[in-house]
Amino acid sequence: MSAGGLFKGTPHLRPDEHRLLSELIRARLGLDLGVETRALLERRLGPRLAALGLSSFADYEMHLRFAQPGDDEWDHVTEILTVHETYFFRQPEQLRALSDELFPVLHERKANRRRLAIWSAACASGEEVYTLGILVRQSGLFVDWDVRIYGSDISKKCIATARRGVYGESAFRTVSAESLAPYVRRVEGKPPATYEVSSSVRGLCHFGQLNLVDPGPLAPIGHLDIILCRNLLIYFDERARRRAIELFYERLAPGGILVLGHAESLLHVSTDFELLHLQNDLVYNKPLKATT
Ligand SMILES: C[S@@+](CC[C@H](N)C(=O)[O-])C[C@H]1O[C@@H](n2cnc3c(N)ncnc32)[C@H](O)[C@@H]1O
Repeated sequence: MSAGGLFKGTPHLRPDEHRLLSELIRARLGLDLGVETRALLERRLGPRLAALGLSSFADYEMHLRFAQPGDDEWDHVTEILTVHETYFFRQPEQLRALSDELFPVLHERKANRRRLAIWSAACASGEEVYTLGILVRQSGLFVDWDVRIYGSDISKKCIATARRGVYGESAFRTVSAESLAPYVRRVEGKPPATYEVSSSVRGLCHFGQLNLVDPGPLAPIGHLDIILCRNLLIYFDERARRRAIELFYERLAPGGILVLGHAESLLHVSTDFELLHLQNDLVYNKPLKATT
């Protein structure tokens, strides 16, 4: 048994074990885990060793490395190390710019095909996806169009919550749930208040689990007009960031738009996109003349 860690009985995470473990997690999940994360990993993953009856982090690293299909240990690691913070109308100016300035352009450009496809690539528990659905409905532009809004996340738990489409008060921090009627409705019953997304919005939204570091074939969702990947790249290392951006470029239709979070940019990541200045925001544009 290794020497005790932060808590009595928890094995100590040695620097060499930390290096191997953080490299493995970085390769599988994309998360940037620098040397300063040793105490954090020891504290957060320590209970998993106890749950599996393992006595050292070296054993835990081997367990993860050779985890068989069906072994849910990677799901535990994902839940323990990822941040799922999200809410309806997060970064509202950006979303309003999207609906006020870009929806009309897409409406005109795609008038012949009458198809709009949007992907929220790290949607957590789904609030961002439903917000997009509400904006599409509120715009009144895409009536009788084939509108598909895809939401994906690496977290199975988050995707299950997203599919339910039922949220508490805290999901409505920048807008009141009441102001989103009729797209969000209060569920009858005792406090605390809960709200469900209406079928007119839910019908546009489709969810699936997806790891952006290892996405598998994405051809079934076709080419996209808008991709949002907000508040994820800040947690990624450079390799995972590049890989995700390459995937987004490939999945966007020519002229398609990439929207990142306010703390994120393509600086030092990609020069393939053009910058598009909206009234209150910046987004990235796959050139209309792009051939791939
Ligand atoms: C902070 S949330 C962002 C939610 C939403 N986009 C927003 O801005 O409100 C980041 C999400 O990225 C997901 N995530 C982390 N690593 C991922 C990966 N490798 N592939 C896909 N999603 C990942 C997490 O599970 C988490 O739900």
